[in-house]
Amino acid sequence: MGKLFVMDHPLIQHKLTLIRDKQTGSKDFRELLDEISTLMAYEVTRDLPLKEVTIETPISRTSAYVLSGKKLGVVPILRAGLGMVNGILKLVPAARVGHVGLYRDPATLEPVEYYCKLPGDVTERELIVVDPMLATGGSASAAISFLKDRGCTNIKLMCLVAAPEGIERIRRDHEDVDIFVAAVDEKLNDHGYIVPGLGDAGDRLFGTK
Ligand code: PRP
Ligand code: URA
Repeated sequence: MGKLFVMDHPLIQHKLTLIRDKQTGSKDFRELLDEISTLMAYEVTRDLPLKEVTIETPISRTSAYVLSGKKLGVVPILRAGLGMVNGILKLVPAARVGHVGLYRDPATLEPVEYYCKLPGDVTERELIVVDPMLATGGSASAAISFLKDRGCTNIKLMCLVAAPEGIERIRRDHEDVDIFVAAVDEKLNDHGYIVPGLGDAGDRLFGTK
């Protein structure tokens, strides 16, 4: 089964509280999500392999470490996942970005796909799928299946807030995928919203409500 990492770092928790607050407007919401994504990316990339190289400092020749192994790809689930991309790219600027467009049908809560554009070498990359909200888990599960159908094998999922139902769903559908979240909330309400959550992430991010 995939591992679940709940990031309880004080900076992440403090910023998450600000982002949950309904008084927080789109500008601050965007900035906070960006900052939290950078902090989370630090942990998500913790197991990236290193290789030894030789360099010359101004003082002497020495061996040192650089990243090796698979290159990274970041895959935001549109729309709200877009708010987590730049925060990761600040740490890993060479990562490529693939987009998967899914929206959740408000009546059935089932994900509907409307867009996909992935890097040409996506199957050779270690992928981080990002979406602030893991509610029923339908969208993230569909996005991961979508990537696997195209030959991707090395996938992690990074979300801000998760419901227990969403975590359960990913673990059931994709037992090879590790999940990184800042919080696991109480439950889903009758409309499939996370309680207490932060409301509709896409609308808050882009000011569409
Ligand atoms: C939200 C959120 C996730 C999805 C989570 O997107 O960003 O993608 O819902 O719900 P689930 O786990 O039950 O699938 P939404 O469908 O509202 O689209 P948006 O990002 O364009 O607002
Ligand atoms: N999508 C959101 O944006 N928020 C939720 O709470 C659930 C799904």
